[in-house]
Amino acid sequence: MNAGIVGVGRYVPEKVVTNLDLEKVMDTSDEWIRTRTGIEERHIAADDEDTSDMAFNAAKNALKNAGITAEQLGLILVATVTPDQPFPSVSCMIQEQLGAVNAAAMDISAACSGYIYGLVTAKQFIENNAYDYILVVGVEKLSKITDWEDRNTAVLFGDGAAAAIVGKVSEGRGILTYELGADGTGGKYLYQNEKNYITMNGREVFKFAVRQMGQSAINVIEKAGYTKNDVDYLIPHQANIRIMESARQRLDLPSEKMAAVIKKYGNTSAASIGNALVEELENGKIHDDDLIVLVGFGGGLTWGAVAIKWGR
Ligand code: COA
Repeated sequence: MNAGIVGVGRYVPEKVVTNLDLEKVMDTSDEWIRTRTGIEERHIAADDEDTSDMAFNAAKNALKNAGITAEQLGLILVATVTPDQPFPSVSCMIQEQLGAVNAAAMDISAACSGYIYGLVTAKQFIENNAYDYILVVGVEKLSKITDWEDRNTAVLFGDGAAAAIVGKVSEGRGILTYELGADGTGGKYLYQNEKNYITMNGREVFKFAVRQMGQSAINVIEKAGYTKNDVDYLIPHQANIRIMESARQRLDLPSEKMAAVIKKYGNTSAASIGNALVEELENGKIHDDDLIVLVGFGGGLTWGAVAIKWGR
């Protein structure tokens, strides 16, 4: 029995901050942000809305979409680098809020690759029959670790949450193959500094991302016994449209076969891939038995990809 995604949900905060809003408070321009990153606006959480609140809302939506109850969850995995506090974990907080009384719970720290790390971890527990259903949430309140005086980073990020229920799916469907990776020597390129702010060497992260995203996507496609021509849809981490385009070109895919929702959300780190998946499902872009590839990279440095035959 293969493990696959049997339900999805998401949540983005109400408040929208546009590039024009940022122009008013820092030395930047809508033109620079759009042409260098593809971002036009992002959602920013309210002061009294923390990571666990967004995770809870996305999780509720995913449970509903999967048609299961919180009691049926055996495990909750929350990928985040912006938990409400180091402990209790966000996963334990939402375990209580959801009433998921039968679920174990832990957080995963893999930055923007966290959603992929979560899906791959869930796959192991489903396929060895440990649990029937696992909730995976990618969630970030990056606005609370953003230095709003650093234009190099402040324009890039947004807040939000995306959730998936992983369970057993029918033969031939589900998460076919995966790749996870890490390179701690690149930790210095993207990290949280002593003031708790995001610090980034944009050029180094850019080079790494261009190299790794295309390669990881190819690796999972080939491991699954397919070629790049078989791919129906690519869902890359929404960090920068130019990085996403390079992955798409590596796979020789037309632009209508890649999720590009970055302009509305910015980079929401662990929530980014899951949020793009939900949006494209809602747009009717993904169909049963499509071969889809989810691929991401992030701080750590980390990366990850999965090839999925969509459907339950
Ligand atoms: N507004 C206006 N100018 C800005 C700016 C902003 N928000 N941010 C940086 N600049 C300036 C820089 O200071 C630099 O000026 P200088 O040449 O006078 O020093 C200039 O723009 C060009 O900077 P450069 O680094 O060459 O731009 P770039 O084309 O590489 O784009 C990033 C910068 C950050 C968009 C790009 O490097 C990137 O996306 N990197 C990957 C980041 C990422 O994905 N992070 C998340 C990982 S999960």
